[in-house]
Amino acid sequence: MTHNPIIVALDVESAEEARALVTKLGDSAGFYKVGMELYAAAGMEFVRELLGQGKDVFLDLKLYDIGETVKRAVTQVARAGVRFLTVHGSAAVMRAAVEGRGSANLQLLAVTVLTSFDQQDLADLGYPCAVEDLVALRARKAMEAGIDGLVASPLEAASLRRLIGPDAILVTPGVRSAGAAKGDQKRVATPAEALRAGANYLVMGRQITRAGDPAAAMRSVLDEIGR
Ligand code: C5P
Repeated sequence: MTHNPIIVALDVESAEEARALVTKLGDSAGFYKVGMELYAAAGMEFVRELLGQGKDVFLDLKLYDIGETVKRAVTQVARAGVRFLTVHGSAAVMRAAVEGRGSANLQLLAVTVLTSFDQQDLADLGYPCAVEDLVALRARKAMEAGIDGLVASPLEAASLRRLIGPDAILVTPGVRSAGAAKGDQKRVATPAEALRAGANYLVMGRQITRAGDPAAAMRSVLDEIGR
């Protein structure tokens, strides 16, 4: 089988629930995203458990703090053996994260502008610019800072890919197969569209985790993208 680009979002409230999903998915999934909810419930102990089972972990903590604090937190995450970690795309935060990662294998992903933000949210922050201009500015700053990649909407993937070049990592959530329930996602693309637009990895949650048979749901996505 060629590289499986699907990262399964473990958006659940306990280690028990997450463990049950990982068991059901078995060998069909090798990469899991642990976000704030599960991290708050089960912490690094559960992250270490996943790593101990040979799974790759994307720790989606979107760090944002003074440089020294970010640097030291990133060092801890890097030591644990996590593969991807998110930080906010503010230049000082990104530089501190790169410093904290040192020579570890951890790959740092920047969030440019939260996709829930619109023009008014930026105006409220005192940023008098268009959302897409801020996304582009932060994407450039991320590359300058030595960040490995970006998390972005699949609908921004093609333009960002042109901006960051072929080697940077592009991870896209907001992915749904045609006909699958969208939940609260408004602007979605299919897995094949996201990959065509230049994504290297796709974060998928509910379409897989809330399926009656998560492993079968994963296999059908892999079929869809020819993996
Ligand atoms: O269940 P679903 O596939 O919508 O889950 C998507 C995952 O990606 C969730 O963990 C969500 O927090 C995350 N995410 C997102 N949209 C963004 C950024 C992150 O859905 N813009």
